[in-house]
Amino acid sequence: MTFLSTLFSSIAIGSMELKNRLVMAPMTTDYGTNDQFPSERLIRYLEERARGGVGLITVEVCSIDRTHRYVQHSLSLGDEVDIPAHQAMVARLHDLGAKVQPQITHPGPESLAAFFENKPAVGPSPVVSPVWGGVCRELSIEEIEEVVKQYGHAARRAQESGYDGMELHAVHSYNLLGSFLSPYRNKRTDEYAGNKVEGRTKMLLAVIREMKEATDHKLPLTLRISGYERMPGGRDSADTAQIAPMLVEAGVDAFHVSGGVSDRLVSQVVMSSDTANGFNVPGAEAIKQVVDVPVMVAGRIHDPRFAEKIIKNGQVDMVVMGRPLLADPELPNKAKQGRFNDIRHCLSCENCIDSMQWDTLNCAVNPFMGREHEIDLERTDNPRQVLVIGGGPGGMEAARVASLKGHRVILMEKGGYLGGSLTLASTVHDDNEKFLDYLLDQIQKLPIDIRLGQEVTLQTVKQINPDVVILTVGGTVKAPTIPGHDLKHVFTGPQIRRMLAGTPNENDAGKLPPWQSTGLKWLGPVSQRFITPERIRFASRLWMPIGRRVAIVGADLAGIELAEFLAKRKRRVFVVDKGKKIAPEIGHKRRFEHMERLDKLGVVINIGVTCDEIVSDGLWISAGTVRKKLPADTIILAGSVLPNMTLYDQIKEAGYEAHAVGDCRELGLIVKATYGAAHAVNNI
Ligand SMILES: Cc1cc2nc3c(=O)[nH]c(=O)nc-3n(C[C@H](O)[C@H](O)[C@H](O)COP(=O)(O)O)c2cc1C
Ligand code: SF4
Repeated sequence: MTFLSTLFSSIAIGSMELKNRLVMAPMTTDYGTNDQFPSERLIRYLEERARGGVGLITVEVCSIDRTHRYVQHSLSLGDEVDIPAHQAMVARLHDLGAKVQPQITHPGPESLAAFFENKPAVGPSPVVSPVWGGVCRELSIEEIEEVVKQYGHAARRAQESGYDGMELHAVHSYNLLGSFLSPYRNKRTDEYAGNKVEGRTKMLLAVIREMKEATDHKLPLTLRISGYERMPGGRDSADTAQIAPMLVEAGVDAFHVSGGVSDRLVSQVVMSSDTANGFNVPGAEAIKQVVDVPVMVAGRIHDPRFAEKIIKNGQVDMVVMGRPLLADPELPNKAKQGRFNDIRHCLSCENCIDSMQWDTLNCAVNPFMGREHEIDLERTDNPRQVLVIGGGPGGMEAARVASLKGHRVILMEKGGYLGGSLTLASTVHDDNEKFLDYLLDQIQKLPIDIRLGQEVTLQTVKQINPDVVILTVGGTVKAPTIPGHDLKHVFTGPQIRRMLAGTPNENDAGKLPPWQSTGLKWLGPVSQRFITPERIRFASRLWMPIGRRVAIVGADLAGIELAEFLAKRKRRVFVVDKGKKIAPEIGHKRRFEHMERLDKLGVVINIGVTCDEIVSDGLWISAGTVRKKLPADTIILAGSVLPNMTLYDQIKEAGYEAHAVGDCRELGLIVKATYGAAHAVNNI
């Protein structure tokens, strides 16, 4: 039986017949080779998405000019030498039943030519690239005409490579065509002038005609364009629908609508969970009303049921997913079979974008993404007894993957519920809950022996005598010992977590009025079985041992997520930290999104500030020579996470094969827990 029958019905873009209406967005991976060819890693990653059932794969940006790369390991269709490598990749994706097209572009102002070719980037006018910080050179009219021809050559090469279609990149007011198309960046005054419709569309129209002619009008062309640029000085919300008919006349076979302009953190392109689902749909719908070619839309369409709805409503013809297919390449097949609970959803955590600053692209919830070539998920012919200690995200992922591989798995958790740190992380930041739900659901479906409420010691391990032990016992949180830290209105991060989870120890309970500590003591053990982030959130609206004014000492991720949580519960929140930045463990993009939220919630943050002393009505802080008292009813010492390898060392010493994963080895959020788990299982 096919679920979501509209989404999974066929459609044609020109001569390209697609088995369904779900398209994979172009996503730069940086997985190409140094010579700008598709690598085995890239092909294996795309093959996994083809296998997952997506109708059309859009390969990331391919530059029309080998001397203008977009990122270091970009792809190119700039020379005949590129054709065989693309042919090989396309053939492998065709073998798996997917249609595939490249995203053809000239990076324009974002080109890295200054670094790799010792020549400037080029653009409509001299503009500063938000990505590499340099200024591009303005193209002359003769040069523009040459570049138009280069687009035609690249299109022909795409055709000779066997691609089913081609996507033209003219979106987000960046790269070359996007910049020409937008008055925000195009400051020319000649026939290509950005402030006139004829001027800013002139190059785009010429490129579309050139690409269609170069391919004998046989290769369908999809145009990626911003519906609305959402920027003062950019194109307004009605502009794209107004120019759409003439773009169709020039040869566009389908529109791929995104929105916004680009900046260093692609903040209007890759949007946080604070943004509405399908925020580009109105822009796409406006275009659909005035053209008779298919219109597809991208941007926070993360649930296939929502995708079905907007197609069924007639708002768009097709949908495009980016991050959801990084998180789960099998999303299309699972949705088609109605296995919605089996989908591993994207958390909009932005790790994928941020990871490119220090590593190559990877996904927090899918440790196999981009590692398809090195992590083996085949069932083992040597099943072993695996003991996983700790039921947090790393433990559940380790148990899940080990069980899928055919190992016999025991999962032991000392608390009364599974989820560990992810349960509380989901309570304070509800985006995480989708991953918690996914893991809990998958764990229950597999033949895993789950033992709750059991603290594991070396003795326990010896009794079970497994072949392999995977430890995911979490780190140790160390709270600062500031004078006054033992006052009654001061709590540590772990104390707050224990109280929210209903598991206070004697020391925690001593901080509460007698009726509250007695209540928690009675209810705590019973409530363990019923703990979910939603219930904790509900309960926290009724009761929390926290006054109206709260000062949190410690601005790492746990501290600022707690600040958001408390501010949403009408607390006036101050965060102080002696460090140099907020949440140093996360990347720029996610940090920016948190700062936006904290700002809207009215949280006051100060870093580079020392907390000298806690007193009954607040805390004394100093910044340089200034010393002030911050009034507060409750003080929370968030603390920092330290490794916790004692049990691991004991187990190792006793001669067992052991792997330590997640915070017990080093602080690393969900991404390190899942990768560590998959890596450990892979090495069994
Ligand atoms: C890692 C990453 C790389 C991206 N690279 C490109 C790109 O090369 N070209 C492009 O037009 N958009 C690019 N995008 C934007 C996506 O195509 C898409 O519009 C965006 O992720 C929003 O869709 P989503 O909410 O389904 O992820 C990229 C997005 C991500 C997450
Ligand atoms: S890293 Fe985070 S935002 Fe990116 S695809 Fe994975 S879950 Fe989504």
